[in-house]
Amino acid sequence: AQQHAVPAPRAEDGDPRFAQQADDLDTRAADQEDPEVPEAPEVQEVSTAPVAEARQSTGPAAPAYDDAEREAVLKVMRERRDIRNGFRSDPIPHEVLLRVLEAAHTAPSVGHSQPWDFVVIRSAETRAAMQDLAQRQREAYAKSLPKGRAKQFKELKIEAILETPVNIVVTADPTRGGRHTLGRHTQPQMAPYSAALAVENLWLAARAEGLGVGWVSFFDEREMVRALGLPDHLEVIAYLCVGYVDEFPDEPELMQAGWSKRRPLSWVVHEETYGRRALPGEEPHDLLGETVAQIRPLDAKALGEAWERQKRMTKPAGALGMLEIISAQLSGLSRQCPPPIPEPAAVAIFAGDHGVHAQGVTPWPQEVTAQMVANFLGGGAVCNAFAGQVGAEVCVVDVGVASELPATPGLLPRKIRAGTSDMTTGPAMTREEAKQAIEVGIETARDLVAAGNKALLTGEMGIANTTASAALISVFTGTDPAEVTGRGTGINDETLARKTEVVRRAIELHRPDPADPIGVLAAVGGFEHAAMVGLLLGGASLRTPVILDGVSAGAAALVARAIAPEVLAACIAGHRSAEPGHVAALNKLGLRPLVDLDLRLGEGTGALLALPLVQSTARAMHEVATFDSAGVTEK
Ligand SMILES: Cc1cc2nc3c(=O)[nH]c(=O)nc-3n(C[C@H](O)[C@H](O)[C@H](O)COP(=O)(O)O)c2cc1C
Repeated sequence: AQQHAVPAPRAEDGDPRFAQQADDLDTRAADQEDPEVPEAPEVQEVSTAPVAEARQSTGPAAPAYDDAEREAVLKVMRERRDIRNGFRSDPIPHEVLLRVLEAAHTAPSVGHSQPWDFVVIRSAETRAAMQDLAQRQREAYAKSLPKGRAKQFKELKIEAILETPVNIVVTADPTRGGRHTLGRHTQPQMAPYSAALAVENLWLAARAEGLGVGWVSFFDEREMVRALGLPDHLEVIAYLCVGYVDEFPDEPELMQAGWSKRRPLSWVVHEETYGRRALPGEEPHDLLGETVAQIRPLDAKALGEAWERQKRMTKPAGALGMLEIISAQLSGLSRQCPPPIPEPAAVAIFAGDHGVHAQGVTPWPQEVTAQMVANFLGGGAVCNAFAGQVGAEVCVVDVGVASELPATPGLLPRKIRAGTSDMTTGPAMTREEAKQAIEVGIETARDLVAAGNKALLTGEMGIANTTASAALISVFTGTDPAEVTGRGTGINDETLARKTEVVRRAIELHRPDPADPIGVLAAVGGFEHAAMVGLLLGGASLRTPVILDGVSAGAAALVARAIAPEVLAACIAGHRSAEPGHVAALNKLGLRPLVDLDLRLGEGTGALLALPLVQSTARAMHEVATFDSAGVTEK
């Protein structure tokens, strides 16, 4: 096949924000505050892979748009916004609305079935009825949110039905095109997809006309069909509020409100196979390596400002004790003083089973792991009660539960394998599996942070996992298994003696080298430990605080620190558990726990109790007056 030279787009042609570099989520290194946008080479060879019957190209390829035309296309995509605020009542001229609808009508569609219809609504009465329906759904949604989120949601506007002169209902007719619509025979959802493409066309054309569009999906779809008197066989794809606006914000309104963050393009482009992330022209990068490379120490300037501010706050210097240290850490981590208040927050509960269960290290049957996962998802566990109290979201991740778990809202199915192998007879997992589980943790951190969470909490569930925790802690602290193996759920002396011997035997079998943290994890760790390592590294790379729960989180933090020492910049020890290994781990990490109540439950419970303390210290930085501002005399 003939090679074909295509001029590469020049970086300065486009707005760098549109290129969605990795810094969209603020992952830039301190020493790269103002990176030069790398200039793409003028001409780039694009190789065409050998295909069975590659056609010989002759003559020039169809021309691209010229630079100005291309920029206009990219500009409208970049500057299209979902608008809810600042609509004007000015009428929309018919010819303008016609151009917008014509653009929608040129959308691609499955088998050219053109399944859409557009119902243009202007009547104040119909709009009021629709607004009423949306308001009810808004209330139902608000009730379903964790408190930390609900507070944020209260401030958000989610529709502008009454403020816009025109509303457009876009429907899809799944029967249009006949029984044999080309391309729809295996995928009936292609009809609504096609109608959604018409919505995007409409949205872009509206932007070009200076018209704002706000998509409202706070509806029960069937209720809406009835309320609008639509034929029953139609599906409602979109309810759009359209009108002239005061301005188009630069960023999504949800981003401006701190509800979400933009995910960088580099997170979502994979070369050849899923997981080999690479932008065109780049070598595929390793998720773990990339994450570690982005972890930085606390920012010295923000740290200094935090200490200064603590001194100026209307209280004796040092009177908030340990909390002053945490507030300085939050400042150094976020590079802001005062630091963002870590709310909303989410606890990620990683669940996995353990082959070492076969050695009789606990009286609890292995099935309890899956049963407790169901309990977390049903809202009946202690972690749910604590999360409810402190307003955090509970996110459950199956990273290695022995049984198949039914798909349930709130459960992330990320199983690496149905439980580890018995560490007393061989490695618990392969190195590759350990890395995959770490990557699950990194991706969980990315997802939770991009969804707007400003603090992450570790949680775990895995019958027999304190055996793996003890082994990891013994290896990384160099402490004898007898000193770091504990009673876990409350085992008797005989079982404790057996458990200690199991840990000793596993370590003797593998002789894990603490300088090879992934090797240690693979030999004696658990899938949930590995995933927590990833959560810590991911949180640190995104400069988001991670509150550690108990002994298993302590074990994971030791592994994470061995991979990237600066990970500790993001770590806050939530509590000290009753497990002896936890003290050894915290001492080695140099972390002082915030709560010390003899808890030994796991599930993130200790971290959840510590969350309000961490939030309080950040809030104090924002709200407490300084001596000068309050006119209070200093000592
Ligand atoms: C399918 C779909 C449904 C949406 N539903 C709503 C909605 O009910 N309320 C709302 O305020 N925004 C809604 N939006 C708008 C999104 O919040 C918005 O597209 C997103 O925050 C990105 O912002 P941008 O469109 O300005 O880039 C919806 C968007 C899409 C694509």
